[in-house]
Amino acid sequence: DWNMPDYVQEAVEKIREQVGSDEVILGLSGGVDSSVAAALIHKAIGDQLTCVFVDHGLLRLNEAQQVMDTFAGHFGVKVIHVDASEQFMGKLEGVTDPEAKRKIIGREFVEVFQAEAAKLKNARWLAQGTIYPDVIESAASKTGKAVAIKSHHNVGGLPDTLNLKLLEPLRELFKDEVRKLGVALGLPPAMVYRHPFPGPGLGVRILGEVKAEYADLLRRADAIFIDELRNTIDHNSGKSWYDLTSQAFAVFLPVKSVGVMGDGRTYDYVVALRAVQTTDFMTADWAELPYSLLKKVSSRIINEVRGINRVTYDVSSKPPATIEWE
Ligand code: XMP
Repeated sequence: DWNMPDYVQEAVEKIREQVGSDEVILGLSGGVDSSVAAALIHKAIGDQLTCVFVDHGLLRLNEAQQVMDTFAGHFGVKVIHVDASEQFMGKLEGVTDPEAKRKIIGREFVEVFQAEAAKLKNARWLAQGTIYPDVIESAASKTGKAVAIKSHHNVGGLPDTLNLKLLEPLRELFKDEVRKLGVALGLPPAMVYRHPFPGPGLGVRILGEVKAEYADLLRRADAIFIDELRNTIDHNSGKSWYDLTSQAFAVFLPVKSVGVMGDGRTYDYVVALRAVQTTDFMTADWAELPYSLLKKVSSRIINEVRGINRVTYDVSSKPPATIEWE
């Protein structure tokens, strides 16, 4: 039961005290944690903060634009937008193994971030949106307990090479507290209450080899799904289906199937829709979305995204399936 304005004020003062007149770099991903950390640190030290936003080309539709509009536009934060999509696509060419893809994306991400950070000669601090559960998780993994099955990417290891001190103002907070803090700092609630999105992004939602053409189709199908989830209200709870699910997204299947459109035969790709409900993401149930919602999403995707002629719904729970398909 902490009081939010007091908390913000205390956190701001603590950051000012810690950092003094030094400059700080932060890797902004558009996710909740790095966004809230950026907003808080910016409130504390303004232009002493520079954010680096690495766009790996595997983000959702209009995501880079939204991040730039919110931070650079609305808040006036200094953000360096690095469009590295071609570089990432190049490295991923011919790679089909999920863990190999994760490693490449993670390594490339660190490399691009590091190159940008190295240009900021006056920076003394690296800020990260580490939250309390991350602290526990990494402590648990050091004692050998099995935690995450899949390798998660973040900018770990950077302080060593860049010689920066770590600034982690969210270290003591749980996720729901981070969200409340984000809203108190003026971040859009839709951003703060977003479903989680994996670091490797669409890279693990395009099965097998990642291609720009596939990413483009997937982005558009995914945006339609999310749009309809946000706009469909469940009358019993008064909540949108977006808020009633913990994570929802489209997956690109690089197989072609036959369809008809008008007088013609089509031979196009398939997308699977995935929506789950979970509290801890360790187990999850597939969401019983209304048929009318599925029908609308399917018909919109097939009509609006030329190149996709079939939509399926994933009815697998975790375990034994995982939430992501890779
Ligand atoms: P799975 O697929 O293992 O996913 O059931 C559990 C949660 O973890 C997310 N996830 C990732 N997050 N990097 C991330 O940052 C990754 O490589 C990664 N793989 C899975 C997934 O989106 C879900 O929320």
